Amino acid sequence: MGTDGGSSTTHPARDILLAIESSCDETAVAVVDRDRCVLANVVASQDELHRRWGGVVPEVASRAHVERILPCLDEALRESGLGLDRVAAIGVVTQPGLVGSLLVGLTAAKTMAWLLDVPLVAVNHIEAHLFACRWAADRDPFPAVGLVVSGGHTNLYDCRTTLEFELLGTTTDDAAGEAFDKAAAVLGLPYPGGPSLSKVANNGNRTAVKFPRTFLKESRLEFSFSGMKTALLYAAQGQPGAHATPPPLTAERVADLAASFQEAVVDVLVGKCEQALTATGRKALCVGGGVAANGRLRERLEEMAERRKIDLWISPREFCTDNAAMAAIAWDLLDAGRTSPLDVDVLPGLVRKR
Ligand code: KG4
Ligand code: ZN
Repeated sequence: MGTDGGSSTTHPARDILLAIESSCDETAVAVVDRDRCVLANVVASQDELHRRWGGVVPEVASRAHVERILPCLDEALRESGLGLDRVAAIGVVTQPGLVGSLLVGLTAAKTMAWLLDVPLVAVNHIEAHLFACRWAADRDPFPAVGLVVSGGHTNLYDCRTTLEFELLGTTTDDAAGEAFDKAAAVLGLPYPGGPSLSKVANNGNRTAVKFPRTFLKESRLEFSFSGMKTALLYAAQGQPGAHATPPPLTAERVADLAASFQEAVVDVLVGKCEQALTATGRKALCVGGGVAANGRLRERLEEMAERRKIDLWISPREFCTDNAAMAAIAWDLLDAGRTSPLDVDVLPGLVRKR
């Protein structure tokens, strides 16, 4: 019953990574080869389900993941044109995120790893967002300062290598994406707020309304967006107890508020990146996460990088918002021998250092 020698049966090489991401409200599966070439990148968005609530409802998200995970796995393999016999490892995001959402992806990943008898590799969602900068760089982007700016996180890192990150600072309240989403809701713009606010901002005047730039003049590598959000609420709806009524929310006023608010957030993000570059002495900056898709942020980062003569690697837009391709960092973890046992658990909270 031997398969070698004169047998006509040849086994294909196990040379692809099946990557799974379900930490929040996107069910995502990708197929990535050893050269980090993305062969399939399937993302099932749950925006429709959460729109009526104006934000992600954790229970709704985890149930939707249960319904979508197997169709996404099927679709990713179909798109790649490759079979399960080519899978070398399963990469899965296990932290941080919503516990119920993470568990769906991890359970699917463990099942696949067990069935196929291949290694399971646990991936950190935030590190995966930064890994996505690799697709913007023409070489290894690290060492670098890393900014992950998304709906759940606004974190600065000192990235020594792909696998060695140290948290330099984070937000003391809202994440930047969360602030964009809430600001959009105040302005009556559709969910998800970040992209709709940035679209409207294109028609507005960035200097029309003055918003605070919290912590910008301080050297601490921390963020705070709640004061900006309150300032926007007052500018749009009036301040409680104040006599003056705010101007009516015409399309023009909404565009001006959106543009001015966006500029304030971008000022802080770019300013804090500069402070982190100075503090660490790094000569490169990597930026990932959903808000990294923002056109004005990208433009301002490019201006800053040119002025400071540093390398800037911003995740390509298609890999900014949550996706499973970025979990291809699992290849690097696998090469470093960092696989996980089948009883590995999810870690919903942010781990500050590793
Ligand atoms: O990375 P991501 O998909 O999920 C988290 O890990 O949180 O980021 C989603 C966030 C949302 O808050 C969304 O409004 C924001 O990214 N976002 C944007 C833009 N595109 C997505 N914010 C500003 N401008 C954009 N173009
Ligand atoms: Zn994310």
